[in-house]
Amino acid sequence: MEKLLDLISNEMKKAFQEAGYDESLGRVNVSNRPDLCEYQCNGAMAGAKKYGKKPIDIANEVASKLEGSSVFSEVNAVMPGFLNLKLNPEFLVNYVSSLNADNKFGLNLPEPKNMIVDYGGPNVAKPLHVGHLRSAVIGEAVKRICKYMGNNAIGDIHLGDWGLQMGLVINEIKNRQPDLVYFDENFDGEYPSEAPFTVTDLEEIYPFASGKSKEDPEYKAKAMEATFKLQSGVRGYRALWKHILDVSVTDMKRNYDMLNVNFELWNGESTVHDVIPGMVQYMKDNNYCYLSDGAWVIDVKEDTDTKEMPPCIVLKSDGASLYNTTDLATIMERVREYNPEKIIYLTDKRQDLYFEQVFRAARKSKLASDDTEFIHIGFGTVNGKDGHAFKTREGGVMRLEKLIEEINERTYQRIQEARELPEDEARSIAKIVALAAIKYGDLSNQASKDYIFDMDKFTSFEGDTGPYILYTIVRIKSILTRVREDGFDIENVKLNGCYSDAEKSLMMQLASFNAMFENAYEEVAPHKICAYIYDLANVFNKFYHETKIVAEEDKVKKASFVALLKLTREVLETCIDVLGFSAPEKM
Ligand code: ARG
Repeated sequence: MEKLLDLISNEMKKAFQEAGYDESLGRVNVSNRPDLCEYQCNGAMAGAKKYGKKPIDIANEVASKLEGSSVFSEVNAVMPGFLNLKLNPEFLVNYVSSLNADNKFGLNLPEPKNMIVDYGGPNVAKPLHVGHLRSAVIGEAVKRICKYMGNNAIGDIHLGDWGLQMGLVINEIKNRQPDLVYFDENFDGEYPSEAPFTVTDLEEIYPFASGKSKEDPEYKAKAMEATFKLQSGVRGYRALWKHILDVSVTDMKRNYDMLNVNFELWNGESTVHDVIPGMVQYMKDNNYCYLSDGAWVIDVKEDTDTKEMPPCIVLKSDGASLYNTTDLATIMERVREYNPEKIIYLTDKRQDLYFEQVFRAARKSKLASDDTEFIHIGFGTVNGKDGHAFKTREGGVMRLEKLIEEINERTYQRIQEARELPEDEARSIAKIVALAAIKYGDLSNQASKDYIFDMDKFTSFEGDTGPYILYTIVRIKSILTRVREDGFDIENVKLNGCYSDAEKSLMMQLASFNAMFENAYEEVAPHKICAYIYDLANVFNKFYHETKIVAEEDKVKKASFVALLKLTREVLETCIDVLGFSAPEKM
């Protein structure tokens, strides 16, 4: 559907043209003085010089061409030459009715593309902590936005499952249990299917090993040797690694499930291990990389660079692969398997430069064609109220699981403060609401900015929060239930008019869904959806407070209100689903 603002602008452009002026002057904007008008056109001001006329004269001429317009109910030329506009309610009702009939609320879908969203990115053998929250939450929303736009978007977790951290863990297990069959070089039987450790063991082993390797060079050398053995395919090492992977992944899945984050692909750095030699050979054969200071590198500097742009290291000369190596090989494999037209990465913004290097290296070495669009969304940190990285009360790293538990508890209390519910029911509602609190709290911030994780604010039922949005949806649901229980047919209802200013504001907000969503998609900006639903909830609640709905006696009017309520609920629910959370039946 054509966007409302475009339709309005077209009407205005026609009027400029009819009055003998350039039609491009007719661009209309949403008014920044809603007390005076809904929309505004400043074309007469802009055209004054060109036509050698007073702006107010131009504005008056244009306004006279709009008398009797079906689009505007008011066109006022005001000094020094602005055109203040109000929309014809009937025109708005028609527009909102047609988006109501459209299953994507008037959204214009582009040609579908194959896309990969690379998000999550946790490292195996380490517990998920608060630092993993943003990649998961923003990535999931970005993927869902892409899907809603009709694209074939696939999410890949891209596990860190192949580097030194694996060697560290394996080496430490060997120190502790040297007699395990995995370390017996002569063993050629089948390895046990049970892992010789639990996830809790791993959580202790990894930090221990990592800490020790920083102080003890000999220990580190052993870990590197274990990494090398793993990567070169020593059977026992591979079998043990598989256990580490399985145990960690089971734990990760539990955490991501709690966050309603789902990956289509559970690939990792290890997935591309076998294709690395071929890729490097190809790069050498085609002179895409050269040897410099003990490493194979690709120059990625461009003349227009204003910042330093070091070469991208493809491989160390001893053959060891790096983070870059696996990312480049992953691009090669993704192109081969999925032919993506867009790949979106979500990591901490400290990796901005890194990804720029990788993208350029992939293009220069023709692993991806010029048509593949690479996007890196670098996000800011989650801070505590003190402005520093979020920590536990004791000052330790906050585990994701713990964070979810705390916010669940806080939300549970809030629900019980608002109304007493049976414990079970309150707990299960709290889970749904807490998820909205976490996700909205994160997503409503522009990704690149740091934000403060404020448990009290995020769980509040008032203000710019997830629970407030849910509260609004629940309110609509409960009004609809009451109307239905009163014996009113809520199924066969249609918008048939616009009865107040508050209702008009609500309709205008609904009418801007398509423009908002297309923009959020193009700019990969979930926060714009949050801002939109916050405004939508606000205009809805204003309408609700000013309008009697359940008690309305005029059946025609009531039917129109019900239709509007249903549409508002659908748009809100669609948006939160895209953001990755949902609303309870009551709260
Ligand atoms: N595992 C990485 C880290 O912890 C994040 C992975 C991001 N994705 C990627 N394709 N490099 O920093």
